[in-house]
Amino acid sequence: MNSNTVANAYDSSNPALRVLRAFGWGNDILCIGYCTIPTMPMLLLGRPGLQQRRLAVRSTRLLRFNPGDRVLDAACGMGFTSDLMGRQGCVVTGVDLLPQHIQRAREQYARNANVRFVTADVTNLQEQGDCFPFGDAAFGKVHCLEAAFQFGPQGRRAFLQEAYRLLVPGGRLVLVDFVWRTETPGEIDAVDPLRLVRDTWRFEEFEPVHRYRRLALEIGFVPRAALDWTGPVLDRSLRGLAALASCARSPVGRAALACFRPSLRTVTATQWEQFAAVADAYAAVRRETGYAAIVLDKPTQ
Ligand SMILES: C[S@@+](CC[C@H](N)C(=O)[O-])C[C@H]1O[C@@H](n2cnc3c(N)ncnc32)[C@H](O)[C@@H]1O
Repeated sequence: MNSNTVANAYDSSNPALRVLRAFGWGNDILCIGYCTIPTMPMLLLGRPGLQQRRLAVRSTRLLRFNPGDRVLDAACGMGFTSDLMGRQGCVVTGVDLLPQHIQRAREQYARNANVRFVTADVTNLQEQGDCFPFGDAAFGKVHCLEAAFQFGPQGRRAFLQEAYRLLVPGGRLVLVDFVWRTETPGEIDAVDPLRLVRDTWRFEEFEPVHRYRRLALEIGFVPRAALDWTGPVLDRSLRGLAALASCARSPVGRAALACFRPSLRTVTATQWEQFAAVADAYAAVRRETGYAAIVLDKPTQ
C-alpha cells in the first residue's frame, strides 16, 4: 500500500476513528493495548495509554536487548516504542512510511540522543538510498509492533526478507501482529462484506499464523515463540469498543458520550451509526482473527 492509502487509516475525519481518538486512541501510540482485568475501566475512561504502553513494554521485552544494541523499530508510528528502547540504552532507528508520523516522533523525542527517525517503506529498505544508510547485518534486533497487517501479503514476505538481511547472525526479530486463524485469509470477505473494517484501518487481509511460520522458516529464521495475545489485546479491547457502540446506538447514550468527551458534540446521528456499524463489523472479524507475538532468530551461521 502506498503512503496515501495508509494515511487514510489515521485520518480522524473517519467517524469511527474520530470517536476512538476522542477516547484516547492514536494520540501518541497507535497500537491497541495489552489489557489486564484491573485496568479495563481505564479503557472506558478514555485512557488507553496505560495498556498501549504495557503492550509496547511486553513486545520489546521479547527482543532481550542489551544496552548498546542497535535496534530497527520498523513502522514505528509516532515513535513511542523507539523512545522507550532508546531510554534503556539501545541505539534505535525508527522507520515509518508516513512523514507526518515521523515528524511528530522527531518533535516529541528530540531529546533522546539514542534515537533517530527516518521516513521509509520497511518492505523495501534497500531502495531507500541516503535516507536509510544501513547495509546488511546493521542491526542486532528488529522490532515491528502491530503494523505488518498493513503491508499486504507480498509486503510481509518482503519485510521478513529485509529483516533477515539487516540482522546480524544471532540477531532477533519480534513481530507482533493480527493473524488469521485459518489458512484462507480471503474468508475475510465473508465476515467483512461491506469492507467496514478493512476500509477503516486500510488493510486487505491478515496473515495466517501458520503462513508466517512457514515464510520465516523458508527465509532462514529459527522460530522461537508464537505467543497468543488474543485475549488480553483483542478481546478485552473489543469489549470496550462494544460498550461504546451500545452507547452510540441511543440518543441518551450519545448525549452521555458527548458530555464526557465534548469534542464529540458535533458527531451526527448518522456518524454515530457508522461508528456502531464498524464496531459490530469488527466483532465479526474478530471471530476469525487472533493476535500474536512472534519471535524469530537469525541463526549464528
Ligand atoms: C498501528 S500503527 C503501529 C505503529 C507503532 N508500531 C506503534 O505501536 O505505535 C502502524 C504503522 O505502520 C506504518 N506503516 C504501514 N505500512 C508501512 C510500511 N510499508 N513501511 C513503514 N511503515 C508502515 C503506518 O504508517 C503506521 O504508523
